[in-house]
Amino acid sequence: MATKQLHNGDTIPVLGLGTYRVKTEDVLKPVVHQAIQNGYRLIDSATVYRNEEVLGRILKEVFDDPSFGVQRQDMFITSKLSPQNQGYDACYKAVTESLERFGLEYFDLYLIHWPGTAKKKLSDPINQENRMGSYRALETLHREGKVRHIGISNYTARHLQHLLDHCEIVPHVHQFELHPRLVQQDILDLCDKHHIQVQAYSSLGEGKLLTDEDVLDIVKDRNVAQVLLRWAVQHGWIVIPKSSNPDRVSSNAKVLSLELSDEDMKKLDAVHQAETQRFCWDPSDII
Ligand SMILES: NC(=O)c1ccc[n+]([C@@H]2O[C@H](COP(=O)([O-])OP(=O)(O)OC[C@H]3O[C@@H](n4cnc5c(N)ncnc54)[C@H](OP(=O)(O)O)[C@@H]3O)[C@@H](O)[C@H]2O)c1
Repeated sequence: MATKQLHNGDTIPVLGLGTYRVKTEDVLKPVVHQAIQNGYRLIDSATVYRNEEVLGRILKEVFDDPSFGVQRQDMFITSKLSPQNQGYDACYKAVTESLERFGLEYFDLYLIHWPGTAKKKLSDPINQENRMGSYRALETLHREGKVRHIGISNYTARHLQHLLDHCEIVPHVHQFELHPRLVQQDILDLCDKHHIQVQAYSSLGEGKLLTDEDVLDIVKDRNVAQVLLRWAVQHGWIVIPKSSNPDRVSSNAKVLSLELSDEDMKKLDAVHQAETQRFCWDPSDII
């Protein structure tokens, strides 16, 4: 599996398996098996996905089965803090519980899922105070070895700048919505400046970009999902496509052997200039 280097010198796989809305064992198990057999070494979960326990069970079986040839240390396992558990104490406890659900000693990456706190008004200053508290808890957990890398998700450039002004450990990863219909250049520039690895989510626009006329005009007779994923990888970003279909999981892994021409890259770069589209949640109004 191709990797990228994080700012502390460690490596992270370029391709991971997204698991949003996949939570039952009958669907997850074949998908995780197929992913691992096709070289995926990163799994992206979150407390709000309600699949940490089942994923932990499936992964333990994989580690115990010599036919996979994969051990815990070969995998890069990510989970995320629920917006219900923001603040130092709640975050510390939530990560510990997340580890227990997974049956793990440590996470490779733990992200603050969302800059806001559940059930608080977007304009409530507690949002900023709480997410800073959560980040400090992640810094503690990192020093204790329970979370090898720490990061954030869905932070705007403003949220990220505030964090950078106050944190002790620069986030290793920022995961946010990023595809040819949504290129948030201010966030990309800030990540670049501080060597924060970008992880793109909803690379396929939750599936909706696969029928986008402008994208199809560029892709022509190639595999649309592979081209969309390759566009991100060729920019240096990590991708975590989700599929509940094992054949698509292996097809998406072919992104690593593709190459897009400069012309294709430029055309895909320009798609968002005609019309921007966001498929997931928008954090812009959170103070
Ligand atoms: N941090 C955050 O707030 C956040 C938000 C959203 C997502 N994420 C993470 O990012 C992951 C990916 O994002 P996403 O789930 O929003 O959507 P996505 O990966 O952009 O798209 C997933 C959709 O595309 C379909 N699909 C996947 N591969 C395909 C292929 N080769 N051909 C045709 N259809 C294909 C899937 O359908 P089938 O399942 O039927 O194949 C599914 O409906 C999530 O699972 C999650 O881990 C994080």
